[in-house]
Amino acid sequence: MTLYTSHQLRDRHSVRSYTNDPIPVTALAVLQQELESVNTEYSLEGVRFVMCCDSPAAFNSFRKSYGFFRNVNNYLVAVVYSSCANAREVAGYAGERLVMAAVAHGLGTCFVGATYDAAKVDVELSATESIAFLITIGVASEGKGFIARLVEKMAHRKCIAPEDFYDTDMAFYNLAEAEDRLRYLRAGLRALAAAPSALNRQPVRVWLGEDAYLHAGLAMTGKYTDIDLGIAKFNFQNVAPGKWEWGVGGRFMTH
Ligand SMILES: Cc1cc2nc3c(=O)[nH]c(=O)nc-3n(C[C@H](O)[C@H](O)[C@H](O)COP(=O)(O)O)c2cc1C
Repeated sequence: MTLYTSHQLRDRHSVRSYTNDPIPVTALAVLQQELESVNTEYSLEGVRFVMCCDSPAAFNSFRKSYGFFRNVNNYLVAVVYSSCANAREVAGYAGERLVMAAVAHGLGTCFVGATYDAAKVDVELSATESIAFLITIGVASEGKGFIARLVEKMAHRKCIAPEDFYDTDMAFYNLAEAEDRLRYLRAGLRALAAAPSALNRQPVRVWLGEDAYLHAGLAMTGKYTDIDLGIAKFNFQNVAPGKWEWGVGGRFMTH
């Protein structure tokens, strides 16, 4: 799997205004390749992604997209099987992997859980499947509408400092002790602070337990917090040597 630097993780931000230019061929080829890998790796976890190109209908209704988005012609659909316990979390993890691949190739992206027209999404679902979220993809536009500018400014503001992603209530070791034991913890906390989350709530926390494992959990629960958990785990894992177990309370297993 491609690893991204802390800088790349921090530079990503949600883009809601695009040009009508098609996705450049090289970037499109990389994305298709990454999408195939993701679909192979996570099919047993109940996750598949579908790419929809030249398909603006899901974002054309002002009522459903609240005018937040401009010129969304291309998007990925995260489809999950309802019977797989961690599917939405895995979809968040794999979604951030696809987002970073797109960003590394100069594209703009945005996770979208709510502000799209579900009836107009260009994908066939079986009775046991549902859409967890979409990811818009395209060439970012310089000129933005007033609402888009306002939303991006409000939504991107990060209010939580990296050290506050360490949950001192759950932890057996305080942050200084934990950082002494886990050299990668500080970089991991910064990566968590850079992770996108629904309504920018940044709900994911980590802590070093009595069992000497780092755990990941949620400071609050909501409609999208399982997805946020997967996204945050991807960011952390990118800068730290190990692999998360799925689920709330999952441990970080170092190599
Ligand atoms: C699961 C999820 C759902 C989201 N849903 C929406 C949405 O419906 N509409 C929207 O404009 N932004 C949506 N966002 C984008 C967030 O608002 C954005 O990631 C957050 O404000 C942080 O800003 P940043 O991505 O620029 O760092 C969503 C993000 C996530 C992770």
